[in-house]
Amino acid sequence: MVDFTLTDEQKSLRELAHDFAEKEIRPVAWELDKDGTFPRAILDKAFEVGLMNTHVAEEYGGPGLSYLDGCIIEEELSWGCSGVQTSLGCNGLAAAPVFLGGSEEVKKEYGTSLTQDGTLASFCLTEPDAGSDVSGMRTRAVKKGDKYVLNGSKCFITNGSYADWYTVYAKTDPDAGHRGISAFLVRKDDTVIVDKKEDKMGQRASNTATITFNDTEVDAKYLLGDENKGFKLAMMTLDRTRPGVAAMATGIARAAFEFATEYSKERVQFGVPIAMHQAIQFIIADMATEIEASRLLTWQSAVLLDQGKRNTLQSSHAKRFAADTAMKVTTDAVQVFGGYGFIKEYKVEKLMRDAKIMQLYEGTAQIQRLVIARETLMPRRVEEPASV
Ligand code: CAA
Repeated sequence: MVDFTLTDEQKSLRELAHDFAEKEIRPVAWELDKDGTFPRAILDKAFEVGLMNTHVAEEYGGPGLSYLDGCIIEEELSWGCSGVQTSLGCNGLAAAPVFLGGSEEVKKEYGTSLTQDGTLASFCLTEPDAGSDVSGMRTRAVKKGDKYVLNGSKCFITNGSYADWYTVYAKTDPDAGHRGISAFLVRKDDTVIVDKKEDKMGQRASNTATITFNDTEVDAKYLLGDENKGFKLAMMTLDRTRPGVAAMATGIARAAFEFATEYSKERVQFGVPIAMHQAIQFIIADMATEIEASRLLTWQSAVLLDQGKRNTLQSSHAKRFAADTAMKVTTDAVQVFGGYGFIKEYKVEKLMRDAKIMQLYEGTAQIQRLVIARETLMPRRVEEPASV
């Protein structure tokens, strides 16, 4: 049965997230963007009302919401400000490898750390010379007794300056390509250096930093999954988080669409509101269809996960379509505003800048197409999520 009706609980969650976005995020979003200010106070409030760490299972101290629930929340919060949502949602990305590959003891320890102590965590995969090509990473982890010693630098790390701990990918067998990568949970200590806070085009409220590990020691119990199985763990993580990115892109597009439709009904040219001109109506109509389609692809990719099924293909469909839609819809929203859309005083300008990262992080638009092509042309015969 296919049914797009939300449950009463999901409607309440959507309302909670929408209210939060409207009252706590929107009023400050354009100010945060101007100065690139990290939204610490908003994160604290979101933690209090239960809008952070939503995927943490009940046995590890969280609310255990479904992936679909998460997407519903992420769309609303990103409607408020996607830079703020990137900061709010980062724990989900960082913690996914822990819940996929950690021991029961480690899952309990870090589930509690997130949900009771309110810690922040970052996902450290990308390096200056290893972006799309994950297996090109150079960070090394060398086993010494019952510890691993990590050396190397990770860049573009969301929440990097504020994280209390990190999930870090490093080479444990440098000659084995993607089969020589392992994942670790690393606590921040004085061997972990945070620098180079990036000055970004969009999502300026989110923090993006470089993290360097200098002889950082990690107890072997914090190896996530088996040694040399870290690449798969990273891919499985991204399968689980890309639906959330697609939901965020849908939220950005919806915000731009709403601003554009309101403006089109007010702005008069040639004696009538511009919404009366077919040229504008067709722009608005395409926006509406593409936003609906983004949401449907997003929900499909999340529901598959909730059903315990592999969603690699659908996750890339959703991420690539919703991200491209966010870019197109925000660009068209600027077009509907005409010259005013290009002025910072008008809100759509920020949305167009914010949308760009959706086509870049968690796998570029081209990487999503690569995954879609491979999954379509050479489908792997795996029905259930692969194990690590
Ligand atoms: N689930 C499980 N296993 C998978 C998988 C998946 N979705 N995808 C691939 N694998 C497995 C393959 O089966 C293969 O296994 P074997 O070793 O048994 O053969 C192995 O992984 C290697 O697969 P590929 O040959 O497909 O690997 P590749 O080197 O060609 O890379 C890729 C594939 C899709 C390009 C991948 O590298 C990729 O997704 N790159 C993008 C990286 C990315 O998204 N980075 C974002 C960083 S996080 C971020 O942006 C957040 C932030 O904080 C800003």
